[in-house]
Amino acid sequence: MTPDDPPTAPSDAETAPGPNPADWPRTSSYEADPTEVGRVLLLYSGGLDTSVMLKWIQDHYDAEVVTLTVNLGQPGEDYTAVRAKAEMLGALECVVVDAREEFAAEYLAPAIKANALYGGGYPLFTALGRPLIAKLAVEHARRLGCDSIAHGCTGKGNDQVRIEATVATLAPELKVIAPVRTWQMGREEEVAYARQHGIPVKGGTEVAPYSIDDNLWGRSSEGRWIEELDHAPDDDVFNLVTRPEQAPDEPETVAVSFEHGLPVALNSEPMGLVDLIESAAQIGARHGVGIVDHIEDRIVGLKVRDIYEVPAAAIILTAHQELERLVATIHQNQFKPMLDQRWGYLVYAGLWWEPLRADLDAYMDAANRFVTGTIELKLYKGSVRVIRRSSPYAVYDASLASFAGSGGLFSQAAAPGFIELWSLQSRMAWRVRNESRD
Ligand code: ARG
Repeated sequence: MTPDDPPTAPSDAETAPGPNPADWPRTSSYEADPTEVGRVLLLYSGGLDTSVMLKWIQDHYDAEVVTLTVNLGQPGEDYTAVRAKAEMLGALECVVVDAREEFAAEYLAPAIKANALYGGGYPLFTALGRPLIAKLAVEHARRLGCDSIAHGCTGKGNDQVRIEATVATLAPELKVIAPVRTWQMGREEEVAYARQHGIPVKGGTEVAPYSIDDNLWGRSSEGRWIEELDHAPDDDVFNLVTRPEQAPDEPETVAVSFEHGLPVALNSEPMGLVDLIESAAQIGARHGVGIVDHIEDRIVGLKVRDIYEVPAAAIILTAHQELERLVATIHQNQFKPMLDQRWGYLVYAGLWWEPLRADLDAYMDAANRFVTGTIELKLYKGSVRVIRRSSPYAVYDASLASFAGSGGLFSQAAAPGFIELWSLQSRMAWRVRNESRD
């Protein structure tokens, strides 16, 4: 280590006491005391981590486990298979909840009104999903008589913050178990544990798969070469969006219609929000739209790289923002992005239940009251470009804006008087700063 190296904390392997939960000191009030765990609700995806966890908790806590799997519109997920796997691994009960409508109405709708993006490119699909997943975990844990909630997040990510902050806020009586933070198994050990306990492992064991999270609003990939900053994206990472090079040679236009800030029709066909988002995602994906290669500041301090595929958000947010610009005044247009950014940051940072978010939502609703109209976009090999706009509330008058128009309400003769007053302070300041003083 040279004096210029950044300070590093000792790694877990150097400091950790061992895999037994009872050996780990608890640093917060909401962490489960292993001697007091009787029944656990496990947030179960059906993947390797949470499948190993399902067995591991039964063994290490001597506890019953019920599983909860939440459908937020992950494309191609087979929930019958997920449930069967949980049953096979000894879950007392396996709940699968279709929360797509609630996700769209209560989480994605406010995000659209707030043009929600973090770091200029991430439309927050994971960050928006976690508080809902954790809220459902609380509801079902209470219903099923659980004392604790377990999840598969690591100790290095944002998701643990979002889930645990939600549980601690909504259900102070429930405790949290996060085995990945302490069990000290890498992928190889997990695969070995899985083999030992008859847990099916998908794919080969040599190459670790990408770490994926997805829902209606987008898909993220992490891990493997993505951590290497000088590694351009390998083609196999794109699972949702066609690579722009392979997108159709013919462009396609898509018209998104909004009422009060929410999309209500695609190409003039009225649709509910879930269907509309799914259709927009399909059209965008076909044209290579919504690929984001993102360097991101996590709230836990790390800077990381994520590859996102967000075709629906690329279309809907672009259209929404354009329509807002058209119906809002210069003052509103300059002010709202500051609040949009604040909204996105709170949600990214796991503070969904923070009252400021609700305060901001009240503003977003007010600001979206007249965001009604249609925006037409042209999609072509990865690009999204606005080509037509219309709204009954556009603060726009073609005859006033016209270059050749004779004026009407707009008095060109009054312009010099405006310029004289508008520039007054700037002119005075220029003079006093530049007058020669000798
Ligand atoms: N970086 C994004 C976020 O913090 C995506 C995280 C994806 N989560 C995952 N478990 N792979 O919201």
